[in-house]
Amino acid sequence: MTSPTAAQPALANHTSQNYNEHASFVYSDKNTAPILRLLNAQSGESIVDLGCGTGQLTEKIKALSWPDAQLSFARENGNALGIEYTRGDIQDYRTLDASLEGRFDAVFSSATFHWCKANPGGVVETIKWLLKPGGRAVFEFGGFQNTVGVRGALHDCLRRRGYDPAKADPWYFPTAEQYSALLQLHGMSPSDVELHQRPTPLTTDLFGWLKTFARRTFFAEFSDLEANSMMEEVVESCRPDNYWCDAMPGLGIKPPVGATGNEGWNVHYVRLRGSATAPSC
Ligand SMILES: C[S@@+](CC[C@H](N)C(=O)[O-])C[C@H]1O[C@@H](n2cnc3c(N)ncnc32)[C@H](O)[C@@H]1O
Repeated sequence: MTSPTAAQPALANHTSQNYNEHASFVYSDKNTAPILRLLNAQSGESIVDLGCGTGQLTEKIKALSWPDAQLSFARENGNALGIEYTRGDIQDYRTLDASLEGRFDAVFSSATFHWCKANPGGVVETIKWLLKPGGRAVFEFGGFQNTVGVRGALHDCLRRRGYDPAKADPWYFPTAEQYSALLQLHGMSPSDVELHQRPTPLTTDLFGWLKTFARRTFFAEFSDLEANSMMEEVVESCRPDNYWCDAMPGLGIKPPVGATGNEGWNVHYVRLRGSATAPSC
């Protein structure tokens, strides 16, 4: 069984170091349980994970889909999980290794398709190209109103300086109806495509989140000095809605220096989760 994963260096919108430090909630057991349930991986299935990031979720899927006998043999012999990785732009299957065509029982993808704003239809074509006839795709990514408030603050910050935020914004956050229609347009049969609200406590803080996801996108054109100052500005715009602290319960403001108690940041994630089946011939 193989589980190659497509990743495009030109689309490296976040570094691995920042991703693991500030965004490990993306692949946490809690946040990935719903999509793994929907995938319902069976022993011996051939599954491809599109957009592997730093690979933690890919490893979970590989472990779920390996026949028990092979898995225990590999463990006893000290082998790694034997995942195959490959590079390519999932918006264009011609950038992928030709041997992958029609090879998979299932296509899986988490937290990736919203980065494919340039050609979301191309992603669906890639899914179809990878699947065996009648195979299934299971996906979760940012849907309509994902990161509400923070995205608006990022736009305001750029607009105030005379830049067009729509150009710098890397995200595609469709509604469930829009994404179902796109799947159908490309010959896939969607099911259970729905938006799920998921207020998400951040691993560190909003500045770390922005450094991970906005520094190389919204603020790609700016020096570190300028970008840091703009990200601080976005943090303060978002504080009333996204920050809590025990020193000032319910107020969404910075506590005075020396105040004690816990504090944290939340971002309101909205996930578009669902599945779709490829034509049977
Ligand atoms: C937020 S990470 C998610 C990683 C992983 N699925 C997880 O849940 O931790 C998004 C991933 O999508 C990949 N990606 C974004 N656009 C892509 C594209 N057009 N082709 C291939 N990979 C892409 C990035 O390189 C990154 O690995």
